[in-house]
Amino acid sequence: MVALIAKDPPLAARVLKAANSVSFGMAGTVGSLSIACVLLGMKRIARLAANASAFRTPPAGASPRDALWTHAAACAAVCEFLGRQLNQNLAAEAFVTGLIHDTGITVLDAVLHQDFESILALAAEERLPLHEAERRVLGTDHAQIGAWLAGAWNLPPQIAGALSAHHGPPCDPAEAPLGAALQAADAAARAAGFGFPRFAPPPESEKIPALPLLAGDARAWGGILALAAASAAEAGEFLAAVAKAAPPSQGA
Ligand SMILES: [Fe+2]
Ligand SMILES: [Fe+2]
Repeated sequence: MVALIAKDPPLAARVLKAANSVSFGMAGTVGSLSIACVLLGMKRIARLAANASAFRTPPAGASPRDALWTHAAACAAVCEFLGRQLNQNLAAEAFVTGLIHDTGITVLDAVLHQDFESILALAAEERLPLHEAERRVLGTDHAQIGAWLAGAWNLPPQIAGALSAHHGPPCDPAEAPLGAALQAADAAARAAGFGFPRFAPPPESEKIPALPLLAGDARAWGGILALAAASAAEAGEFLAAVAKAAPPSQGA
């Protein structure tokens, strides 16, 4: 069950939100999908999966959304790997952090769709990072929106902090390990060809956020890129299978 939820970033966000709800009595403590699933149980999760909402975007057939999902999958795998390198106990939270780090984009797409289309067009036209185009159009960006949501959902503060910082100045691995792992994972996903939007990045410059985490092992960067690509490919296969089973008709 955890493996299936982990393939679906919007559902993962909903599961974490529910597990951290005040009414559930575990406010602010659950940053792991495994623990969230144990707490909520199969029936409750089935209800979450079945209930359409603004956060349940069609999984396939709409290219930007496919790209966002494969990007999230790549980030989650790398963030988990790097989180574990920094601290064995960080792996589960790091995976979740990578998986939901661009939740703010999903929300913008669902709630301010026209603005989001303009933002995508501006980013494509001027080859801007998405968060910069968002700031120009909206005065804020998906990192801040995602962090605000994580706070509103009572997710652990270190996850909200990592979301908030993921397009900011470099995080110090000693002070903000989740933030540092996420910045490196986000860069690795882009360098592996699974950024969002999918503009071609200069791969060597993307390596920079990961350097403090590689412990001087230059070969590790290649392994990280391979991990990102494998996870994105798996997510792509999942999306294709879902599209085949149920053509995208649900709106969001
Ligand atoms: Fe982002
Ligand atoms: Fe990202």
